Amino acid sequence: MRSHYCGQVTDAFLDQDVTLCGWAHRRRDHGGVIFVDLRDREGLVQVVIDPDTPEAFANAERVRNEYVLRITGRVRRRPEGTENPNMATGAIEILARNLEILNRAEPLPFQLDDDDTSEEVRLRYRYLDLRRPVMQERLKLRTRVISTLRRFLDQQGFLDIETPMLTKATPEGARDYLVPSRTHPGSFFALPQSPQLFKQLLMMAGMDRYYQVVRCFRDEDLRADRQPEFTQLDIETSFMDEQAITDLMEAMIREMFKEVLDVDLPNPFPRMPYDTAMRRYGSDKPDLRIPLELTELSDLMAGVEFKVFAGPANDPKGRVAALRVPEGSKLTRREIDLYTEFVGRYGAKGLAYIKVNDVATGRDGLQAPIVKFLPDETLAKILTRTGAENGDLIFFGADSTKVVNDALGALRLKVGHDLGLIKSAWAPLWVVNFPMFEWDEPEQRWNALHHPFTAPRTDDSAEVRANPGQCLSKAYDMVLNGSEIGGGSVRIHRQEMQNTVFDLLGIDPEEARAKFGFLLDALKFGCPPHGGLAFGVDRLVMLMVGATSIRDVMAFPKTQSAACLMTQAPAPVTEAQLRDLNIRLRRTP
Ligand code: AMO
Ligand code: AMP
Repeated sequence: MRSHYCGQVTDAFLDQDVTLCGWAHRRRDHGGVIFVDLRDREGLVQVVIDPDTPEAFANAERVRNEYVLRITGRVRRRPEGTENPNMATGAIEILARNLEILNRAEPLPFQLDDDDTSEEVRLRYRYLDLRRPVMQERLKLRTRVISTLRRFLDQQGFLDIETPMLTKATPEGARDYLVPSRTHPGSFFALPQSPQLFKQLLMMAGMDRYYQVVRCFRDEDLRADRQPEFTQLDIETSFMDEQAITDLMEAMIREMFKEVLDVDLPNPFPRMPYDTAMRRYGSDKPDLRIPLELTELSDLMAGVEFKVFAGPANDPKGRVAALRVPEGSKLTRREIDLYTEFVGRYGAKGLAYIKVNDVATGRDGLQAPIVKFLPDETLAKILTRTGAENGDLIFFGADSTKVVNDALGALRLKVGHDLGLIKSAWAPLWVVNFPMFEWDEPEQRWNALHHPFTAPRTDDSAEVRANPGQCLSKAYDMVLNGSEIGGGSVRIHRQEMQNTVFDLLGIDPEEARAKFGFLLDALKFGCPPHGGLAFGVDRLVMLMVGATSIRDVMAFPKTQSAACLMTQAPAPVTEAQLRDLNIRLRRTP
């Protein structure tokens, strides 16, 4: 039907005939001549229809926005002064000989180039929203990301193997989406939260290197970077240790960034132990583009009289830390109040601060209500530890370690953005040496920080059992610009260790058998050492296109409440369907 894409007709085609198909983006009637900007996936081109071609002209008069057209004409240079340097096709136009209306369109519910359209309307008419060039560019980049990653893995000998969607619960920590079985009344499939166990079984099957671009399903509280169904690039390897796996994976991401964005990421990526990340950034996914760090003060504050600081400093689960803001003393009272309100959302009960007017004059050079509560010596140490300079401001957090990390970690990001401190474009890193377990205070039990199949750093299960809280794992996360884009681990490949870990997690042998019997069996029959990871493809693409939500890089995403506004899913089903599935709904009176 056509010879080229609209957006590809440049001055290289001068004096040639082209046939184009697309949508009428805009029509302008200039009394005598009609201009139509014709749009397709690759861009816009200006078409001129002249009364000298009466049939085409009559058709052009009927054209409205978003009509689907096919035109044939000759490429000519635009008249002097009417070129549009902002358009790839801005030097030329097409003098149409034929203009065919392939389909009409009713007026759209929103204007495609109106950037203020609500997301609700955009999601309801997603097929129209996706006509917008920005959305088309995002999905094109997504395609290139995935095809580049696939090519890398293909070249490295990875096998692309599909795993079931109708399966059993996989423990990634979210709620499952369940699918009732008609043939087994009362029983349910779970949609996979990830293919974790299947990919491990593929290693036990001797497949050696596996990958899959795969949909995962998690019923959890949604955020800008979380969707109920999302895409992983899921990977598993045999006979590779942590270093070899992470080396290969960062090489893949580096190659992909080079190819898709022409960006050189660092080689190697920095590696940071989890406890360093928490101590210096208050986060296990630090955004290293922001040149601010937390300073530990707990030891300094244990002896002070100021209760707000001394309390947490003397509590083994407490922390006192500072965040130095360069040139922060210019912050107004009102701005500081807003930051105080901001950290309140993370549980902080206040946000003490000191304005550093003059480092040299000690106490007199410092300005803040709390200065009078702190001895000279402590003030001096705060200044040296934080490296404060004249004109800086120092914020303080004192609370449980979790609240201080959450609050100052988030404040660090906010201040960094607000004060425009972000200089570098891309800051990838590995966070490594995660704890194996995390104590769940309300439930009084250990939880796996990654998942229950992650190997501890020690091979000695007695050591794990003796001191679960001190035990580190062979888990690693790839972090990019403060976003966790991938995570994985070396796995447990011996039955004894797996049983120990299940036991510590409070999964008794009976439950372990019921839930993961197939895995425990497979561990018996010659399981190779193995490990892998999964990338969140949506998050990766979101960062690469500069979007703020993964919804913007998914063709048909769901809302915050996990619904599809276009199809109206989820939706009620008929009584008959429910009867087939042996499901009876309790009627509310
Ligand atoms: P994990 O649960 O860390 O690991 O998931 C891997 C990556 O998937 C992305 N991700 C999400 N993206 C969008 N919406 C969500 N709801 C969502 N949840 C996770 C993140 C995350 O880093 N089986 C293990 C991997 C392994 O051990 O090999 C797993 O799924 O970018
Ligand atoms: P107060 O004695 O409650 O008036 O607090 C004195 C200063 O300490 C104020 O600036 C508070 O914002 C701040 N503050 C109070 N609690 C905390 C806390 N847990 N962490 C950091 N600063 C705090």
